[in-house]
Amino acid sequence: MPSSIVAQMLRSGLYTAVIGRSVRFYQSTGSTMDDVAEWARTGAGEGAVVVAETQSASRGRMGRRWVSDEGNLYFSVLFRPEPDALPLLSPLAGVAVARSIRQVAGLHPSIKWPNDVMIDGRKVAGILAESALSGSQVQHAIVGIGINVALDVSSDPEIAATATSLNRAAEAEINRAELLRRILQHMDALYLDIRRGRSPIPEWRRWLDTLGQRVIVTHYGAADTGLAEDIDEQGNLLLRTEAGELLTLTAGDITLRPAEGATVRNA
Ligand code: BTN
Repeated sequence: MPSSIVAQMLRSGLYTAVIGRSVRFYQSTGSTMDDVAEWARTGAGEGAVVVAETQSASRGRMGRRWVSDEGNLYFSVLFRPEPDALPLLSPLAGVAVARSIRQVAGLHPSIKWPNDVMIDGRKVAGILAESALSGSQVQHAIVGIGINVALDVSSDPEIAATATSLNRAAEAEINRAELLRRILQHMDALYLDIRRGRSPIPEWRRWLDTLGQRVIVTHYGAADTGLAEDIDEQGNLLLRTEAGELLTLTAGDITLRPAEGATVRNA
């Protein structure tokens, strides 16, 4: 039987302080988000990771499904952060994924706010952050990452026009174990930075391709058009509406698409 992606990764060594201190691998599961949540309830330490080859009940933002066929990368990571660090975990993951794709696949990804990792305007990776709170305390937070590595997006009409995969974009077979190893190592370094008071937001901002674009933002059925002017220190989007009002948008239940017309600036 071929060795699992986790076994392959560990063979080259995983040099981290927190992230990946314990790693579980499932050939198939429902969702790695649920696996980590269950493990957290039964005492998993911070940095625990669950990786799956396939998922039958995987979820994306806003209850969307996430195609989870064999040959790609699906994993979730457990954090037990201070409350202030909670909004920084999703940006942390975006930076770790973007850096690693550039290093391992030689591609030039960008991030579409709030956290779609894109290559040439097509989505290649998604990030989902979920947390369990008790009053103002964070019981735990889970960051799940799905990356299309070998996925044949053309075989799925729902994503054929909007998604891509690393192998397709790079025209090469990308080493998943190496990609996973790099991502976990970057997540670890970025998390240690957060603990020392250094935020991932400035670097995340540089990966974002959304700023300076005219966008349509939809939330709870209502749509606003405006200029994606900036992000704040928690990663919220500052949208200048056509009426001149500055709205602060949290990632929550928002979808964002380009508005017709020009890019205002390429920040
Ligand atoms: C998005 O909507 O863009 C986020 C997609 C997140 C998918 C990943 S795959 C690993 C983890 N398990 C899940 O069920 N979802 C996340």
